[in-house]
Amino acid sequence: MQQYIIGNWKMNGTKAESQKLAAGFLKRIQEATRPLPHIVLCPSYPYLTSVFEILKGSPIEVGAQDGHPEKSGSFTGDVSISQLVDVGCKYVIVGHSERRNFHQESSALIRKKIESAIKAGLRPILCIGETEKDRETGKTLEVIGHQVTSDLPSSFMPHDLIIAYEPLWAIGTGKLPKQEEVEEVLGFIKHELSTHIAGGALVPMLYGGSVNAANAPSFLNLPHVDGLLVGGVSLKLDEFWEIVNASTR
Ligand code: 13P
Repeated sequence: MQQYIIGNWKMNGTKAESQKLAAGFLKRIQEATRPLPHIVLCPSYPYLTSVFEILKGSPIEVGAQDGHPEKSGSFTGDVSISQLVDVGCKYVIVGHSERRNFHQESSALIRKKIESAIKAGLRPILCIGETEKDRETGKTLEVIGHQVTSDLPSSFMPHDLIIAYEPLWAIGTGKLPKQEEVEEVLGFIKHELSTHIAGGALVPMLYGGSVNAANAPSFLNLPHVDGLLVGGVSLKLDEFWEIVNASTR
């Protein structure tokens, strides 16, 4: 399976900076001499259109960082999944820990978003992960198992979505799980998914949390890792491109 390198720009950048970054990645891809992984950039809502206009027709896809499950209606401040499709998005991040923590998103809401995205032809990237306390108390697999069963709809096709394992304690902290810990969790998710749907083990699995150019190869070489979800470093053109070039398939 071709790997995925996905940049989550979070709430960063201006319009000019977002356009510059997108144009920079476009230039790199045009000059690339090796097979590339899937590349997805997820800018802030206001810049989705201008980033999409720059990348349209190129292999780099655009994703959003969240989406409302209803098609339209009185939901002040929200952006619907169908509006995201309308402006060229192909992916949407769902259930990021920053949404769960700062916006109290429940598993029921996350499941609705996933269902709505799949129906609209937008591929959700479901983020799951344990807290530091969960890990210290040996609850990692229990928490992950619970997220998988409560966040996911009862039926979907393996290529409908992507799962990103992002341990909360590794996001933006510089702390990293050991390679064997990542493999254990991803292997466990694959097992859970294969009991959930036919071909569940084929759902692409990403790692995310403090990824940089120096540590990316250690994750991209792991058998269960189908790609990376990169936060802070995805705003740095050269370093993110080094991560793209570290992809192994
Ligand atoms: P960092 O790469 O900045 O740790 O963020 C990870 C993340 O939250 C990606 O969704």
